[in-house]
Amino acid sequence: MSDDDGRTPTLGRRLLLTGAAAGLTAELASTALSPTPAAAAQAAPPPAPMRRFANKVVVITGATSGIGRAAAIAFAREGAKVGFCGRRENLGRQVEREIRAAGGTATYIKADVRVPAQVESFVNRVAQLYGGLHVAFNNAGIQIAKPMHELTVNEWDDVTHTNTRGVFLAIKYEVPHLKRSGGGVIVVTGSANEFASRPGLGAYSASKGGVTGIVRTAALDYGPDGIRVAALSPGTTDTGLADARRPPNVTDAQWAQAKAAFGAANVDALRRLARPEEMAAAALALASPDMSFLTGTSVVVDGGMLAGL
Ligand SMILES: NC(=O)c1ccc[n+]([C@@H]2O[C@H](COP(=O)([O-])OP(=O)(O)OC[C@H]3O[C@@H](n4cnc5c(N)ncnc54)[C@H](OP(=O)(O)O)[C@@H]3O)[C@@H](O)[C@H]2O)c1
Repeated sequence: MSDDDGRTPTLGRRLLLTGAAAGLTAELASTALSPTPAAAAQAAPPPAPMRRFANKVVVITGATSGIGRAAAIAFAREGAKVGFCGRRENLGRQVEREIRAAGGTATYIKADVRVPAQVESFVNRVAQLYGGLHVAFNNAGIQIAKPMHELTVNEWDDVTHTNTRGVFLAIKYEVPHLKRSGGGVIVVTGSANEFASRPGLGAYSASKGGVTGIVRTAALDYGPDGIRVAALSPGTTDTGLADARRPPNVTDAQWAQAKAAFGAANVDALRRLARPEEMAAAALALASPDMSFLTGTSVVVDGGMLAGL
């Protein structure tokens, strides 16, 4: 054994521990009939689940899968009434059923964030259904990875219209409701690609850089109305977006191995990909009253990936 600094032998510490143990024995002998703290903890009921969003109305874009799905489930578990969208109706209905079966409140509404009328109608319907709006998680996003000379103009537009213009549209239609509620929170899913890129991610990085600008400006525009605006900037997370880069003819086991190898090689601190539930937990933290002074910034949750660049 060695001391904490790894240089000195631990005779002094051992003596200290021995002394502490002797004291503890005497103390235990004098309170023999009282339950030990460990036994008391065992007998205690489990802590009540957190209900930070009880009766709050939350809208989420892009919650048919991945981070958005995990966030819809987590917000509902903490008492929120959740309205969420996405284009894949079968998956949306599945998430809705799952939340309701667990006793939560949620409604799926089919909407495409690239289409202004659909975003407006989605947000208004949720606010009408649940009586207002308090939190927005603007999360819908896609990635198309190609060198820029191979990217079609339609592909460029698709990525930027979903990831950047879609966020603008969501905020545009959410803010009047948030103001009517006397304030609220907007969390936008950015990316570590707001700050660094990889080959083939021109459109994606541009779209997420746009999110950085939107979040900072919206925070300034709406801070006086009591609306906080922040970006959650994930590192690589194990979702459909990551799976879109799966090469053909690769087995599930090989792909799982490839993702683990990517995490080990690229995420310098934690050496793995994030789970969608970890990103959802970060989104809830940013939206919660615990973060009442956080606005106009991006919070990177990347397992130390950028730290190691
Ligand atoms: N996974 C990562 O490594 C990673 C890293 C950093 C940031 N992010 C960001 O995290 C967010 C969520 O992605 P994810 O990783 O959870 O991937 P995902 O499982 O593919 O989820 C993307 C979600 O966005 C929705 N969506 C896409 N286009 C849409 C559109 N036009 N209208 C409405 N909804 C749309 C999808 O629903 P439908 O297909 O049903 O429409 C889906 O629910 C994205 O903004 C992404 O850029 C992901």
